[in-house]
Amino acid sequence: MPKHSQLDRRAFLRGAGLTAVAGAAGAVLPTAEGGGRVQPPGDRYDFDTIYSRIGTDSSKWDAQIANYGRRQVEVGMGTADQDFRIAPAITRALRDRVAHENYGYLTKPESYLESIVDWNQRRYGLEISPETILHSDGVHPAIISTLRAFCPPGSKILLQTPGYNGFYTDIRVVGAVAEECPLRLSNGRYSMDFEDLERRIDHDTYAFILCNPQNPTGNVWSRDDLMTLGEICTRRRVVVLADEIHCDFVTRGHTYTPYATLDDEAIVRNSITYKSVSKSFNLSSLKCAYLFSTNPDYLDRIRGAGQHRQGINTLGVVAAEAAYNECEGWLDQLLDYIDGTQDLVESFVGARVPHVQVVKPEGTFLSWLDVSEAIDRVDSGDVAENGETPEQRFQRYLLEQAHIHIIPGSSYGTSGSGYMRMNIATSRQLVERALSNLASAMARV
Ligand SMILES: Cc1ncc(COP(=O)(O)O)c(C=O)c1O
Repeated sequence: MPKHSQLDRRAFLRGAGLTAVAGAAGAVLPTAEGGGRVQPPGDRYDFDTIYSRIGTDSSKWDAQIANYGRRQVEVGMGTADQDFRIAPAITRALRDRVAHENYGYLTKPESYLESIVDWNQRRYGLEISPETILHSDGVHPAIISTLRAFCPPGSKILLQTPGYNGFYTDIRVVGAVAEECPLRLSNGRYSMDFEDLERRIDHDTYAFILCNPQNPTGNVWSRDDLMTLGEICTRRRVVVLADEIHCDFVTRGHTYTPYATLDDEAIVRNSITYKSVSKSFNLSSLKCAYLFSTNPDYLDRIRGAGQHRQGINTLGVVAAEAAYNECEGWLDQLLDYIDGTQDLVESFVGARVPHVQVVKPEGTFLSWLDVSEAIDRVDSGDVAENGETPEQRFQRYLLEQAHIHIIPGSSYGTSGSGYMRMNIATSRQLVERALSNLASAMARV
């Protein structure tokens, strides 16, 4: 299929009398609550107007409202997705495709591969050979196939903590055991503890899961960090799974270093990278991700012993291709917006929220809050007999007193104790409301 063939596909649809119904800038599109709103003309995007997702089976909003009640969830700030409307070019591409009313199996979409290669080359100087890419209907299924291929049941898998809670599930699914390598926090910045990490490797350790940039702390790892890590893992024969799903979100002044651009062939060959458009362009439920590696043996193992099926979703592919080929401007504006919101969170919390501190993020759209002092003021600080952590009780306290839903740090491993994760990928008006509610709740303890 020719380069940027989504354009050709649209031409085909038009030729077949299936011209897309709408989607140009200025079109009226429905809101989640059934109203209509006009997309601003030109290429300025509106992240400010609140875009309600209530009533759309959203995990961040509807699931929490079902759990706790509408009054408690004035602002949903849990699940790591965005509340913004997606880039108009993606909606246009999806509309064009939906006009063709057939969703039979797809062939390997070369234009999609080209969009992946172009994006990574253009934005990060990362060269990916198309034949080294495997598709996946999510980063999780891809990580699970990899772990199945490399890690026998009962073996140890290293991950850094605080670390993304989904990794624990992946590790459980393959019957392996999570070995937590705590990050070190000093002067408000997390860093890797390489000595501790190497000490934890033994004959039963086959894989290390890297999160770059890091969920939940927002750390963006430097080239030196990655080289030292890579040297240890390669020497000790531990394969590196580099989950770079958050790579497009990097705070002003920081740089994302793709693991696969490290200046050592052996280190890169000992790795597999996982990416997706899902976080960057808010397409998580379209289930479209990919992995790649310069090591053909690793790819064979993932396909073979890992039983990886390259599941692919038509609408996910159409959306991903449009995102990578046409929506860079939208993403850049969103990055500025998130940067501004991070600044707002930092200055607001510093000035007006007693007993809470912000760990300055370097990437992601997550805010990592030190609430240890706040917890001390409202809680015994003990883990209950039923296993409930102080952070889980504090989550309930915030639902009741501040009407916000944020995630307990204890979900991210033992080093998440005393912290909460707040997703700020929403209208700044809602972030301000959440912070103001938090300030009032904390002023009462
Ligand atoms: C680090 C990380 N990896 C993977 C995922 C989920 O990936 P997917 O939805 O593609 O399975 C998330 C979602 O929050 C994440 O933060």
